[in-house]
Amino acid sequence: MSSGPAWRSSAARAQIMDEVARYNSERWEKMVRAGAVFTRPQLDLTPEEALDWADPKRQLGEVAGKDVLVLAGGGGQQSAAFGLLGARVTVMDLSDAQLEGDRTAAAHYGLTLRTEQGDMRDLARFADGSFDIVAQPYSINFVPEVKLVFQGVARVLRPGGYYDFNCANPFVAGLTDNAWDGTGYPLTRPYVDGDVIVYHDEPWVFRGDLPAEAFGGPKEYKHTLGTLVNGLLEAGLVLQHLREETLGEPDITAPPGSSEHFSAVAPRWLRFCARKAAVTL
Ligand SMILES: C[S@@+](CC[C@H](N)C(=O)[O-])C[C@H]1O[C@@H](n2cnc3c(N)ncnc32)[C@H](O)[C@@H]1O
Repeated sequence: MSSGPAWRSSAARAQIMDEVARYNSERWEKMVRAGAVFTRPQLDLTPEEALDWADPKRQLGEVAGKDVLVLAGGGGQQSAAFGLLGARVTVMDLSDAQLEGDRTAAAHYGLTLRTEQGDMRDLARFADGSFDIVAQPYSINFVPEVKLVFQGVARVLRPGGYYDFNCANPFVAGLTDNAWDGTGYPLTRPYVDGDVIVYHDEPWVFRGDLPAEAFGGPKEYKHTLGTLVNGLLEAGLVLQHLREETLGEPDITAPPGSSEHFSAVAPRWLRFCARKAAVTL
């Protein structure tokens, strides 16, 4: 665990942003070598499973023939799913090792895929209105500020296009079922933008007995609910749907400290579906 917001000047922010990218780049190369769950290409997807990966709540409309950007979502899961559904897919990720997973999956299914190595905070390489859908699996918490990402996404989307992303639930970010102390899951982190959360990945992330400590924990940044919602609106992205996501089925009668019990008390993730306004607001 470490301190809260650390940037005070633009110079300090630039330095931190460089460190942010470097940390994640190095960490994700190691995660790929370790075969972490987020780095395993999906090579046996049925059409139904592809739809579940791409659009679990069926909110994005017909995907076939659409231009889709899978943002900071390398690894060969979402890119393969959208490709199998007939979309024209571009996947962007900081880690070339992760993108290799996307290329592996595309080759396996005989799909055409564009891969772009880069930082989610800089979408300058894409022209205005290039995509119908931007799909961002869990990754926005790896950067300290959402504004640059949301503005970039809004610019590269076509009017009416969808932005579907998942992020940490800021009210419980950094907490896991291991935090059970006999009476509850104590909240200790401040509820502020940019609070830095460092923790160790849980065992389910890795295969076998690999010690999570060996890989350096995720370093994540809190984004408050107000910042997320207002950031979308200020970028011209209109919220369509918001839901909580959990690891396992929430069950308040399950043993305290279990994933099911924790999920019933503290849903880990939020999933936003927003749409670019047809007319600029
Ligand atoms: C949890 S993985 C999510 C994608 C994976 N397909 C999945 O379903 O789990 C997070 C991804 O974010 C990428 N990432 C981290 N920071 C990034 C940044 N600043 N810009 C672009 N990608 C970044 C990592 O390389 C990693 O591939």
